[in-house]
Amino acid sequence: DKKVMPFEKGLEHGLDFLAEGYKYILNRRISLQSDIFETRLLGQKAICMGGEEAASLFYDTDKFKRDGAMPNRVQQTLVGKGGVQSLDGFEHTQRKQLFMSLMSKENLERMDKEIEYQLEKAVEKWKEQSEIILYDEAKELLVKAACAWAGVPLQQEEIKRRTEQITSMFESPMAFGPSHWRGRNGRNLAEKWIRDLIRQVRNSEIQAEEHTALYTFSQHKDAKGEFLPVKVAAVEILNIIRPISAISIYISFIALTLHQYPELKEKIKTRNSQYYQYFVQEVRRFYPFFPIQGAIVKKDFTWKGYEFKKGTLTILDLYGTNHDPKLWENPSLFQPERFENWKGSPFSFIPQGGGDYLSGHRCAGEWITIRIMKIFLNYFVNELKFEVPPQDFSYRFNRMPTLPVDGFIMKNIQ
Ligand code: HEM
Repeated sequence: DKKVMPFEKGLEHGLDFLAEGYKYILNRRISLQSDIFETRLLGQKAICMGGEEAASLFYDTDKFKRDGAMPNRVQQTLVGKGGVQSLDGFEHTQRKQLFMSLMSKENLERMDKEIEYQLEKAVEKWKEQSEIILYDEAKELLVKAACAWAGVPLQQEEIKRRTEQITSMFESPMAFGPSHWRGRNGRNLAEKWIRDLIRQVRNSEIQAEEHTALYTFSQHKDAKGEFLPVKVAAVEILNIIRPISAISIYISFIALTLHQYPELKEKIKTRNSQYYQYFVQEVRRFYPFFPIQGAIVKKDFTWKGYEFKKGTLTILDLYGTNHDPKLWENPSLFQPERFENWKGSPFSFIPQGGGDYLSGHRCAGEWITIRIMKIFLNYFVNELKFEVPPQDFSYRFNRMPTLPVDGFIMKNIQ
């Protein structure tokens, strides 16, 4: 039986989305008592949905496609054009394979080493400073590690400039005015930088090691024996470096959690290594990062009596699924233990997307993210001593991505 989808009246709710941020969909799922509803966003009809069943529908690639789902302002800053995020079907799987080929055990261990090396160097510097803003320090440290891991040469004098360009891409997609244009400009400059490097690798002017992203995306040839267009290869290499530096957001939240729950430090010290996993997973579940993900209905279908018409923008509530009270007991409490008996569904815990890596759009960097977070967690708990001065620890739900307001200030680091 066909049913009328719960809806909110009005011609446009983009401003409500900006005002309520991460909670926009969840608020309506509560008031409409429905995990699915219809609204209007970006001048068009949009279906919003959240929860485990909705996520499993959303990642069904027979029903949804990604081509055309990403607003221009997000493409111009965060993701770029022509990258894996916008591909569907066979083309997507082939491209995604290149990303996943970089995630071998050896390559992941190489990343751990890069991070540990950069962290040790950074700590030596922090000891000389009276205080640091953790978020800013982590961004730069991660850009250095990411470039080294990706095989992208980075001269000492360009570190600040490149860090600014790379991080502006994920700080700006939802911003307006100058902060947004900073992101577009950052992307243009960073893409040009990487394009030049790809050309140099292809002309053998510089060497890239085989297991690196620079090598992989520069030298890969498709079934027809053709290279990826330089522009696309640059977008994909930045699809590695940019999100690695964005882990700085989770790192700031790890520090915040340890500050707010000092008793968890003792637990981490005394419990086995599994507890690191639970803690890091809970950080990824609890804190807001990516609010939503969009897709387009591929062909007409009906789900639970609701009609999905071809071409309709459909938005999945990532944040709200991680905070769904049907899936998570007391979702607003930080409780790493909840992961002890977690059954591991690919659709209930989706901070980095859901479903499958190759056949779907699940984040290619989930393992890297978790490993880097564990290394920092260990440092904060076992290696570093520091004080946390009074500051604004709150984070705004209508700032996307969000962060503790003062970026987490630490002082007297030893
Ligand atoms: C996709 C989140 C780190 C590479 C995604 C998606 C999300 C996400 C929400 C989209 C899922 C979808 O389209 O349904 C995050 C978060 C991270 C993170 C919160 C923490 C900072 C990383 C890292 C890398 C990475 C470290 C690479 C080293 C990618 C790629 C895609 C992706 C290549 C596109 C996948 C596809 O379209 O098939 N990520 N990510 N991400 N992420 Fe991440």
